[in-house]
Amino acid sequence: MADGIEIGFGPLEQSGQGPGGSGDLVVFVGDDLSLGSAAREALGASGADLVARAAASEKFKGRALSALTLPAPSGVGADRLVVVGLGSEKDRAKTDWPALGGFTAGKVAGRTARVVLDWPGTTVTATQAGEFALGARLRTYAFDRYKTKKKPDADDKSVTALTLMLADHGAAAREGEGARSLSDGVILARDLVNEPPNVLFPAEFARRASELAKLGVEIEVLEPARMRELGMGALLAVAQGSAREPRIVIMRWNGGPAAEPPVALIGKGVVFDSGGVSIKPGGGMEDMKGDMGGAAAVVGALHALAARKARCNVVGAIGIVENMPDGGSYRPSDILTSMSGQTIEVINTDAEGRLVLADVITHVIRSTKPKALVDLATLTGAIIVALGQDIAGMFSNDDTLAGNIHAAGEATGEKVWRMPLIPAYDKAIDSKFADMKNTGGRHGGAATAASFIKRYVEDVPWAHLDIAGVAMSSNASEINRSWGAGWGVRLLDRLIRDHYEAR
Ligand code: BES
Ligand code: MN
Ligand code: ZN
Repeated sequence: MADGIEIGFGPLEQSGQGPGGSGDLVVFVGDDLSLGSAAREALGASGADLVARAAASEKFKGRALSALTLPAPSGVGADRLVVVGLGSEKDRAKTDWPALGGFTAGKVAGRTARVVLDWPGTTVTATQAGEFALGARLRTYAFDRYKTKKKPDADDKSVTALTLMLADHGAAAREGEGARSLSDGVILARDLVNEPPNVLFPAEFARRASELAKLGVEIEVLEPARMRELGMGALLAVAQGSAREPRIVIMRWNGGPAAEPPVALIGKGVVFDSGGVSIKPGGGMEDMKGDMGGAAAVVGALHALAARKARCNVVGAIGIVENMPDGGSYRPSDILTSMSGQTIEVINTDAEGRLVLADVITHVIRSTKPKALVDLATLTGAIIVALGQDIAGMFSNDDTLAGNIHAAGEATGEKVWRMPLIPAYDKAIDSKFADMKNTGGRHGGAATAASFIKRYVEDVPWAHLDIAGVAMSSNASEINRSWGAGWGVRLLDRLIRDHYEAR
């Protein structure tokens, strides 16, 4: 878990005083290139003029998320001056603070910088500075654990050290703590998604999730013998072709009143999805190490909640299996009996995620009686066809929960789009031989998968997030350069903060 960054906070008046007079000084300007008063003071008499002349010669227009890097004017106590653009007044009114933090961290990566959070017409709040810090932390994450040849000068100099200068720096330092709890959760999820399955097999995944005990999370790990006693015929069928035993990890964060029923977060944790006997084509199969992105998000969210001592009861549960072809594998035409008692005809062993989720959901509903249940799963290629890689699909039986998740998505940038659940999708998974089959054909693949899960949630308010498009193989953004996005940690943290915590 390395984010390679240290972030401190300091008073605006000290913006001009560099640590030992070296490092970068970062200032911000709008598209009129005018500086805030603290920035102007830090730059000295000739500073504003220097910025104006350099901007003209470099065609720097102060557009949002653009930057100009110059040698610092003498007497400023810095080596370099980095001018970051904020755009028009309209752009500034809707500043994406994590993105601005990410962009800025990218410009000063591996260096020491004072960041003067001051520009005309804005007083940066502690909350905004916290979000800036969050973005900066997430931006500097890189998964390079298996690179034996580090970049030539990558030693501890490569740590980025930022001091964010603002008026309300005391409160901002507390927000910075919050940003660290949350970014650590996201980074934990990214690490899990990026790890290869020979390292992160189910028992190892369970061991890593169990480390949340250090933060006060209650951990219970179910092994196959216990799963058999519980009658988890669906999850066990998926696991039976793998030499690696499955695990279920149940993580309880009890930060709320003892009598309060928990919110349940359930994650699909297929550490590798070969498709099983219905084997996938070889091209791109390596991406299926990320088929545990849902489970990673749940572990990351529990980390974030526990680290900030959230005042709520949350139970996280992840079903961790490997889907492999083998003489012992389950096969198309098998009929499974799930823990719920419902029977399932296997049509395609590559539709394994819903089988894993079914038994974990039944177990969590019976053992914890949650007041709401959210599952996250890299469940279908069909959701990627429908929505692409920048927004997740949401299916829900509860308009309030769906609305709350949508709002949390808008607030964090981890966006979801609600998809329909109609009787036709449910009908599509009726089976000739059993209560249901595990695929509903090619049409509406994400929706028939959601309808399958719906048959296991009973009457609990529920939302299913199909994150196949957003969890992995992510487009680069200002706050993420990693293959595994850690998608969902910020969304879940926000959902719980806004709707399930005592205030
Ligand atoms: N893990 C896959 C879905 C997936 C595909 C995730 C691409 C991320 C990227 C899932 O288990 C799967 O194989 N789904 C099948 C279902 C089909 C057999 C009904 C699919 O989407 O093709
Ligand atoms: Mn599959
Ligand atoms: Zn899968």
